[in-house]
Amino acid sequence: MTKTFYITTPIYYVNARPHIGHAYTTIACDTIARRHRMLGDDTWFLTGTDEHGQKIERAAKAAGKSPQQFADQVSAEFRALWNRMGLTYDDYIRTTSDRHKQGVQALWKRIKDNGHIYKSHYTGQYCVFDELYVDSVGPGAPCPECGRPTETVQEENYFFKLSAFQDQLIRLYTEQPDFIRPETRRNEVLSFVRGGLRDLSISRSTFSWGIPVPDDPKHVIYVWLDALANYITALGYGSNDTSKFDKYWPADVHMIGKEIVRFHCVYWPAFLLAAGLPLPRGITAHGWLLFEESKMSKSRGNIVRAETIVDVLGTDALRYFLLREVVFGQDGSFSFDALVQRYNSDLANGLGNLASRTLTMITRYFKGEVPYPSQTAHTPADAAIADAARKVIADYGTSFDQFQFSRALEAAWGLVAAVDKYIVENEPWALDEKKDEESRSRLATVLYTSAEALRIVTALVHPVMPDATAKIWAQMGLGDIKKFDLAQLQWGQLRLGTKLGEVQPVFPRADKSAVERMQQMEEQSASVGTGVSPVPSSEARQPAAMSATQTPPAKPAAAIPDGKISIDDFAKVELRVAQVKTAERVKGADKLLRLEVDLGTEVRQLVAGIAEAYEPETLIGRKVVIVANLTPRKLRGLESNGMIVAASPEGGKPVLASFLEDVPVGTRLK
Ligand code: MSP
Repeated sequence: MTKTFYITTPIYYVNARPHIGHAYTTIACDTIARRHRMLGDDTWFLTGTDEHGQKIERAAKAAGKSPQQFADQVSAEFRALWNRMGLTYDDYIRTTSDRHKQGVQALWKRIKDNGHIYKSHYTGQYCVFDELYVDSVGPGAPCPECGRPTETVQEENYFFKLSAFQDQLIRLYTEQPDFIRPETRRNEVLSFVRGGLRDLSISRSTFSWGIPVPDDPKHVIYVWLDALANYITALGYGSNDTSKFDKYWPADVHMIGKEIVRFHCVYWPAFLLAAGLPLPRGITAHGWLLFEESKMSKSRGNIVRAETIVDVLGTDALRYFLLREVVFGQDGSFSFDALVQRYNSDLANGLGNLASRTLTMITRYFKGEVPYPSQTAHTPADAAIADAARKVIADYGTSFDQFQFSRALEAAWGLVAAVDKYIVENEPWALDEKKDEESRSRLATVLYTSAEALRIVTALVHPVMPDATAKIWAQMGLGDIKKFDLAQLQWGQLRLGTKLGEVQPVFPRADKSAVERMQQMEEQSASVGTGVSPVPSSEARQPAAMSATQTPPAKPAAAIPDGKISIDDFAKVELRVAQVKTAERVKGADKLLRLEVDLGTEVRQLVAGIAEAYEPETLIGRKVVIVANLTPRKLRGLESNGMIVAASPEGGKPVLASFLEDVPVGTRLK
């Protein structure tokens, strides 16, 4: 019987346009899905978009669109990009589709009927960015996960009896150690669950952008219960046709980024246990793609779009780079320089060069037909290549099945390098010149050996670089690589006399301007807004009214689409009332004052550029507004931990923001 294999990506939030962080997960899943198809497994690969919840509702509002219009637009952008990149997903689930809504409500009913849902009140903090209830902190506190301000939620909610599943979950992680990979993530989850689980609020009643709770439509279902259910609703769970669900569930792999481990490894299995449904076989969390040293994300404004790389170097180059350069499971930095360097060294000079020199020599010396290796003209060097290839087939498979893509590719490129060396040492061009029979036999053996090794590498790396390998395969006269059964791959299958196709380079060398071109394309894209374009980080941008009090940042401010920011972006700026305790001039700096201000919970030092407008002693006791969550920076050797807000008239002196009524110290401005 054919084995089934079901793999999923997270469904992506539609508040941000796709970038190579999203592409990374989708490419990894696509590569795994392709390998399983090539091995003959009945494979199902799911991706899609996560479209409900407060975060999306607010992002849509900020873009001046209805949530549905907004979701339609961005979901289509994700899909168009995946199509353009040739990603072979079998289904694309949207959480605003009827099939999904129906399935989520069915899941809710089942969990409720099983007695795991009750109604109560939630009073506590909520992080809209993570769509996460944060029970552990008080009002005004930042989210422990992302550091953004939390909001106080006070509502009647439905609760899920998560606490009742603590022991079952611990047993699951212990008895099935592969359930969460890699091990570091498993250990984190284990200690989180061992620390105790509280019941989880699973509905919201103060906004409406979500799936209504069955029989109580005042409530919408918590966006994470809604989103996680996509993995089964896409298979028809809760519909009249459950044939796919019966066939593919449980999933073999949920592939996710490390920041959403808790939702997948704690909440999701608990929901499934409560519903009496089988659990996924495994959840694998990879690390983050970093750009300029921090996680690539819309909110940090440091994204790189896949389109740019696809336009300049092609999809295969991006796929290869991400899987070769980043150790899967760990964070990895992206840079255009590293991308172009790898492209040239491993693809243009590596695999591409091996293919073109081997196939060109066969064309030239043997009229384009794979020659017969001689029975007699053998050397240990030929056998060494055959042995190395056999070992690579085995090692590549083992590494790949553990999602150690970089190790698998390293092994394959070890063979590429070995064959290159073999060609140089055996000098086929010199053998051709000799024209005697023995040299001719030797030439045939060397070129057969090289071509066979090339065939093996090409077949192995097809899931990683589908386009280029399909071309090499066709140039080798082997037809459609998609029809090749990878499970049968072994040394010596290259048929003698195979007629080669037309030989053409597959990876033209990238010149120095490639880096610049990609950088320029990204800069241009950042400056044309579509309502969901990247918004630069608060550090890179300073509103004019705040500029007088701190030296402007070194980074140039990127353009903001149509000059507007979303409420989410504003919410990131923590403005608070503070009272000046001490004030003094900074030696040698005419414009600067050193201040100590009381925030209610702490006293901080600030350095502000207001010395020309205010005598230090007039400020003592005055209530001011400060930006409380800025990264500290040094001015004249003094740490400034925040920034005073002032109006800065053009050519005039700064005027501090203040209040007509009295306001308690520490109060947040919203
Ligand atoms: N909608 C939720 C997931 C729900 S799944 C039931 C969500 N969406 S997201 O748009 O924020 O996408 C998160 C996923 O995108 C990450 O888990 C990861 O797979 C991928 N990545 C987004 N940015 C990334 C990087 N900078 N680096 C690596 N992966 C990144 O969370």
